Amino acid sequence: MLKVEENQISAIGRVLNDQNRPLKERFRALFTLKNIGGSKAIEQIHNCFKDESALLKHELAYCLGQMQDSHAIPILIEILKDTTQEPMVRHEAGEALGAIGDSSVIPILKEYSKDCISEVAETCQLALCRLEWLQSNNNSTNLQKSPYMSVDPAPPADITDVKKLKEILLDENIPLFERYQAMFSLRNICTPESILALGEGLKVGSALFKHEIAFVLGQLQEEIAVPHLEASLKDTEENEMVRHECAEALGSIATPDCFDILNKYINDNKRVVRESCVIALDMCEYENSSEFQYADTLGKVAA
Ligand SMILES: [Fe+2]
Ligand SMILES: [Fe+2]
Repeated sequence: MLKVEENQISAIGRVLNDQNRPLKERFRALFTLKNIGGSKAIEQIHNCFKDESALLKHELAYCLGQMQDSHAIPILIEILKDTTQEPMVRHEAGEALGAIGDSSVIPILKEYSKDCISEVAETCQLALCRLEWLQSNNNSTNLQKSPYMSVDPAPPADITDVKKLKEILLDENIPLFERYQAMFSLRNICTPESILALGEGLKVGSALFKHEIAFVLGQLQEEIAVPHLEASLKDTEENEMVRHECAEALGSIATPDCFDILNKYINDNKRVVRESCVIALDMCEYENSSEFQYADTLGKVAA
């Protein structure tokens, strides 16, 4: 946790909560608060769930999970329960409850693992599997982050054979948690073969599964994945949560091609897709600049 004055946290919170500011600035403020951590930062993030942007709100929930601070649990439960929140936001709240790793949320996750929205139900089922897995492994890996500094919804599988992992990944008869484990192993292996296997995953399975594939391809930042991500972003029949994640992945890959592709969807019919392209273009700019850090709002607010 960073040592930051309370008034600075409030100032960053004002950037996050100011609807008149450009979305990209508000995103950077959010990630700055995530890095600062602690209950004051959580409070500022909580205030923002009244916003109208599903994209921003789902990212709030994501950040609360990644912070792994139990102060966020009541907030995330409130969001998971709130059916006026978009499925993508409720999904992220469920996932965040799993990421925090506290077994007290098992009953609520059980309840919502039967939700009528499949993205929400599947997320809660996965989060339950993660908590059970942590319990049977003495919470040991809860302390470790992935090589990509993320708290993942499933640990990697103990398999190194890419062919075998690909088979598991693409087999819709295998439980989702195992397929997620294969996904994170393929990410960690990070060879052209493993990345192409992940790319194939963008065409099979539920919206939830495909959006996670896109997220992982964004973490990898490998150009080889661009055609796969572009194909799904282009497909207006595809679920918006998947298209959103493809846009953001292209933003972190950040080649000149990615710039061009993202600029094409900046006026997409779906708000979530449009806004994702705006954020992704800001990420592209960041990746191609000499800026010291993306989450830079602390340096910009007056002390
Ligand atoms: Fe997600
Ligand atoms: Fe997302």
